Amino acid sequence: MLVENNVPLQAFNTFHIVAKALTLVRIKGESDLQAVLQHPELGVQSKFVLGGGSNIVITGDVKPLVLKVEVVGRRLVEETEKAFILEAGAGENWHDFVTWTLDQGYPGLENMALIPGTVGASPVQNVGAYGVELQDRFESLDAVDLATGKVFTLNAAQCAFGYRDSIFKHGAGAVLTGSASPTLGLKDRALILRVRFALPKAWKPVLGYADIEKKMAEHACTQPSAKQLFDWVCDVRRAKLPDPDVIGNAGSFFKNPTVTAEQCADIIARDPKVVHYRLDDGSVKLAAGWLIDSCGWRGKSVGQAGVYEKQALVLVNRGVGTDGQGATGGEVMTLAKAIQTSVYERFGIRLEPEPVVV
Ligand code: EPU
Repeated sequence: MLVENNVPLQAFNTFHIVAKALTLVRIKGESDLQAVLQHPELGVQSKFVLGGGSNIVITGDVKPLVLKVEVVGRRLVEETEKAFILEAGAGENWHDFVTWTLDQGYPGLENMALIPGTVGASPVQNVGAYGVELQDRFESLDAVDLATGKVFTLNAAQCAFGYRDSIFKHGAGAVLTGSASPTLGLKDRALILRVRFALPKAWKPVLGYADIEKKMAEHACTQPSAKQLFDWVCDVRRAKLPDPDVIGNAGSFFKNPTVTAEQCADIIARDPKVVHYRLDDGSVKLAAGWLIDSCGWRGKSVGQAGVYEKQALVLVNRGVGTDGQGATGGEVMTLAKAIQTSVYERFGIRLEPEPVVV
């Protein structure tokens, strides 16, 4: 086990915020982790699990021991009557894995192409895009309990998936309605080693999302192949969302809020153009990007932290590639709080951030 000190984290977070890990260990497999847990000093230190760094805002040097997940490997593990079960190491790049599954002839993940981050981080926030969420394709995962060193497996019900949510985002004691063990939140408690996906043999394209419908009309194609859908999703994302390698960002910064039908009617009465989607349970999801945009935030900045010009839901680091240090985590959070305040004042809605603040 190699223990590294004062490790720059700029390349390890997609916001490209400049900060250091005081101590960092790369976890390439279970034995690396067991060595950390059995180490007399490192074993008792508090720990921070770092995946692709695509959903974090770092607000200073990271003092807990950083466990950088670098578990690799991808394979077909099983074929059931209905699905191909594929497994990937938690450290695999998500988009590379999606590309590989399609190249191998296993469609099902194409709507989630180009989501930044790693395979191991994907269940933590139940990533999703263009009508498909990770939970729709999830089979199970293996993780290590950082308190006991025990390896355990969770199925979908046990992960308590919700919209950008899972058991891994809640602390012990959190009451999670969908979970098999409702009182056991796993935030800061587990390191995911491998994730398995069930990709349906009877594959059908998932369509119906406005941006995808537009592509279908443009190409006069009503039944796209998985590869066609993959290409369209990549095109749409490249046109709308900043490439983190060029402009630092963590994807959508806030979740799309859900309100009651009455609250929505009240907002529509004042702002008839509010973008909203009615959900099966009668509640209504609002487009947070629209709410932020209509408060005039698109293109605005606090220091080097800004609101992306083409999508107000995405906060960006405008300082990447310049001589300076770029945005600080503090600037990003100041901007985020100012946005939350103005959306609350205008619409009475509290926006909830998606990324984890470290
Ligand atoms: N809109 C505006 N102004 C803006 C931004 C958006 O008016 O500045 C409007 C759009 O015109 C559209 C609506 O808001 O009518 C929704 O925008 P979009 O289709 O871009 O999707 P989103 O709701 O903002 C969500 C996910 C994305 C995912 C897309 C596509 C969340 C928080 N975000 O964004 O996920 O890629 O749908 O499925 O659910 C992520 O989580 O990091 C992420 C990028």
